[in-house]
Amino acid sequence: MSDPLRPRASLRTAVVWEVLKDALERRAKAAVPEGSGLDVLDTGGGTGNFAVPVAELGHRVTVVDPSPDALFALERRAAEAGVTDRVRGVQGDAGGLLDVVESGAYDVVLCHGVLEYLDDPAGGVRNVVRALRPSGTLSLLAAGRNGAVLARAIAGHFGEARRGLTDPDGRWGEGDPLPRRFTAEELTALVGEAGLEVASVHGVRVFADLVPGVLVDTEPGAVEALRELELAAAELPAFHSIATQLHVLAHRG
Ligand SMILES: C[S@@+](CC[C@H](N)C(=O)[O-])C[C@H]1O[C@@H](n2cnc3c(N)ncnc32)[C@H](O)[C@@H]1O
Repeated sequence: MSDPLRPRASLRTAVVWEVLKDALERRAKAAVPEGSGLDVLDTGGGTGNFAVPVAELGHRVTVVDPSPDALFALERRAAEAGVTDRVRGVQGDAGGLLDVVESGAYDVVLCHGVLEYLDDPAGGVRNVVRALRPSGTLSLLAAGRNGAVLARAIAGHFGEARRGLTDPDGRWGEGDPLPRRFTAEELTALVGEAGLEVASVHGVRVFADLVPGVLVDTEPGAVEALRELELAAAELPAFHSIATQLHVLAHRG
């Protein structure tokens, strides 16, 4: 999923993509018959940042998203990638997920960057879990609470950083575009309460959002070196608390 035209954009998805690709590979090996591809649901999949590359691996992807514009862009992107027959867009939302997709029908469910917008995150997680087949895998990505505090402080917005530190939803002010953020403990608790076993937690964008663009864009080899650093730090719990996003991979028991 590395995009040679947008190296910094691919930096932001590098960790999640590595973890997800590995999970898909493992699961696909267990598919019967082997190589038949997986049924993947991308809840709030938007324009297909993940859905299209997953379909390019040979899997069948259903994207549920409330935005008709996003679904239109998804259709176009799938066509450009030559995977129209493996990508299906459905208008709907995480709250009413099982009104638009079958329960217990997916090998892997993605829920990336969506939980932040839900009034009832626990209910949303329960819904995506219900869409999984027995022994299915959930890939959950959500904004990290302390990463935003660090980013506001480094940008010199100390009052906003202070507010983000204590706000119950991790918001730094009225101008904050996100309704809520999470700690790793909150995310793993939501997943556990929905009946899944956590396989891994990774910190995402620990450094990428903090490093001045000029350092990355002008230094030869800097993008690749920063990518390697992100991948190495992602696994270390010490860095989870300052990551911009947190990724949880979990299995249905
Ligand atoms: C930050 S984007 C993430 C898109 C994609 N998952 C990705 O990782 O690139 C958030 C997406 O969530 C969708 N969304 C917002 N509210 C939602 C809801 N209640 N249920 C499902 N999706 C929702 C938006 O339309 C948007 O496409």
